[in-house]
Amino acid sequence: MNTPKLLPSLMCVDFSRMAQTLEVFEQCGIDALHVDIMDGEFVPNYALGTDFCRQLRKLTPIPLDIHLMISRPDTKLSCFAIQPGEYVSVHWESTPHIHRTIGAIAALGGKPMLAINPATPYDVIRYLLPDLAGVLVMTVDPGFAGQQLVPAMLQKLRDLRAFLDENGYPDLEIEVDGNVSFENAEKMRQAGATMFVGGSSSVFWKGASLSENIQRMYAVIGK
Ligand code: DX5
Ligand code: ZN
Repeated sequence: MNTPKLLPSLMCVDFSRMAQTLEVFEQCGIDALHVDIMDGEFVPNYALGTDFCRQLRKLTPIPLDIHLMISRPDTKLSCFAIQPGEYVSVHWESTPHIHRTIGAIAALGGKPMLAINPATPYDVIRYLLPDLAGVLVMTVDPGFAGQQLVPAMLQKLRDLRAFLDENGYPDLEIEVDGNVSFENAEKMRQAGATMFVGGSSSVFWKGASLSENIQRMYAVIGK
């Protein structure tokens, strides 16, 4: 199985402290920065965008983990100037051309991740397995920070982990996104998750400092 990774969710950042925050992330050896792109159509909210990605790349060498919550990503990929080595997640629910979209991400040097909403069965990935770097399991309905974990997602993670092992893909990443709190991250790790998006309920939790939260998360996920 892959080494665990922690990915702070930048929609939860205090923008007035962006430079200091990125410095802490670099000092702590953060693996990648989770960037939520929302178009107000695929999800009922707007967040971040192409310029934000461009600016962020200038500010830090930490690679991006771009989560596209947009309709028809196949028609919009070229706007994102995807860099080699970046993770890019596209939703299974967002386009009838998911295989083509995943191929396009790989052709640009990105690491394609298939994102699935809570109600979407995990085995939609079956015929995409050879083309994926991993699966992003939404553990809340996408669109907003600060929501509660959908409890059935823990069983979904266990089922997905078993499915990957049985089908010869034990090294595919399983990313979890949504209410990845200190407590839930522990359960998600036990269920097979390897990439953890830390938002308002962990990395940016107000009860302790950024670096304390990160170290606490590292202990929980075994990094
Ligand atoms: C949900 C977003 C998450 C969110 C996670 O649509 O994709 O990245 O910011 O943060 P919390 O911990 O607030 O759920
Ligand atoms: Zn996300």
